[in-house]
Amino acid sequence: MQTQGTINILGIETSCDETAAAIVADGSVVKSSVVASQTKLHEKYGGVVPEVASRAHIEKIYPVIKEAIEQAGISNEKIDAVAVANRPGLAIALIVGVTAAKTLSFAWQKPLISIDHLHAHIQAAAMNTEKVELPAIALIVSGGHTSIYDYRSPLEPKILGRTIDDAAGEAFDKVATILHLPYPGGPEIEKIARQGNPKAIRFPRTLLDKGSLDFSFSGLKTAVLYYCRGHDMKSKSKVGEMSAEQIADIAASFQAAVIDVLVKKTKLAIEKTGAKTVLFGGGVAANGAIRSALQSACDSMKPACKLLVAEKRYCTDNAVMVASLGYHKFKAGLFADLLLEPKASS
Ligand code: KG4
Ligand code: ZN
Repeated sequence: MQTQGTINILGIETSCDETAAAIVADGSVVKSSVVASQTKLHEKYGGVVPEVASRAHIEKIYPVIKEAIEQAGISNEKIDAVAVANRPGLAIALIVGVTAAKTLSFAWQKPLISIDHLHAHIQAAAMNTEKVELPAIALIVSGGHTSIYDYRSPLEPKILGRTIDDAAGEAFDKVATILHLPYPGGPEIEKIARQGNPKAIRFPRTLLDKGSLDFSFSGLKTAVLYYCRGHDMKSKSKVGEMSAEQIADIAASFQAAVIDVLVKKTKLAIEKTGAKTVLFGGGVAANGAIRSALQSACDSMKPACKLLVAEKRYCTDNAVMVASLGYHKFKAGLFADLLLEPKASS
C-alpha cells in the first residue's frame, strides 16, 4: 500500500438519484468528477422512484467509473483505495455502488473505505480549507436530511439536531409540485422567488421547543398547500388560476420561511457551541438566497463566525465529496472489509 506521495482515492456515490464517480488526490485535488443525473427519469413521478433509480444506477455505474478513471488520466495501479457511500440512502440504490466498490477493491487488491453520505456533504464544505478553525458546526440541508453537527474533524461529526419530519429539500420539492413547477423543485423555486415578495404571505416558522436544534418542515409545506387549496382542503387547487406574480410571491414567502428557520437554528447552534466556523453543504446549500442569508448571519455574530460553503457543483450529490472524505479515512487507517453492506439509515 502506497503511503507516501500522492494518495489517489476513487469515490463512488449511488445513494439516491445520481450515479457518480470521482478521483481526488490528497483529499482536495479533483482529478475527475463524473455525475450521471437521473432527473429526467424521475421527473414524471415528481420524486425519486427507488426501483427506477436502482436500475439506472446498474446501467450507469460501469461507464461512469470508467469515465472518471479516463478523465483523471491515471492507471488503475495509481488508485490507492476505493471509497463508497454505503449509508444513508435508498438501500437498493446504495447496493449498486457498494457492489461495484467491493468488486474493484477485490480485483485491484486495494483497501475499501465506507463513507457516510452526510459526513461527505460536510466534507464538501471543508475540503478546500487547510485547517477548519474549531469549535465548528456543520449544517447539512439536502433532499433527505436537515441536520446540525458538532464538527471536530472530518471523521467525527456529532449530531446536535435533525429534522423530525420532512427535510428542507423535500419541502422545496413538494411545494414546487403544489405550484405546478418542474422537478426537482429547489432550483425552480429559487428562480421564481427572485421575482416575488418574500413578505407577501406569512407562512409558519416551526422552531419546536426553546433551545431545540431539531427541525420540522412539514407544517410549512402543509401551510402552502392550505394557502393554495383553501382551508377546508375540499376546493380544487387555485394554482392554475393564479398569476405569475402570485406564484412568485408564494415561492418567495415559502423560501423566506425556510431561510428564517435555518438562520435561527444556525445562530442558536453557534451560541450553544461557541463555534468559530460554520460548514454548510447539501443540495439546498446551492441556493443563493440561503447562502447569502447564512453569510449575513455568520457576519452578525459577536465575534463574527466564518462560513465555509461547499462549491455549488459539490452541493448536490457527487463523488468528489466521497473521495475527499475517503482520503481522511485512508490516512487514519479506517478501512472496511468485503462484508460491507448498504444501510438505509446513518
Ligand atoms: O444533497 P442532494 O443532491 O440529495 C440528497 O442527499 O438528498 O439534495 C437534493 C435536494 C433536492 O431536494 C433539491 O430540490 C434541493 O436539494 N436543491 C435546492 C437547490 N438545488 C437543489 N433547493 C433549493 N435551492 C436550490 N438551488
Ligand atoms: Zn445528498
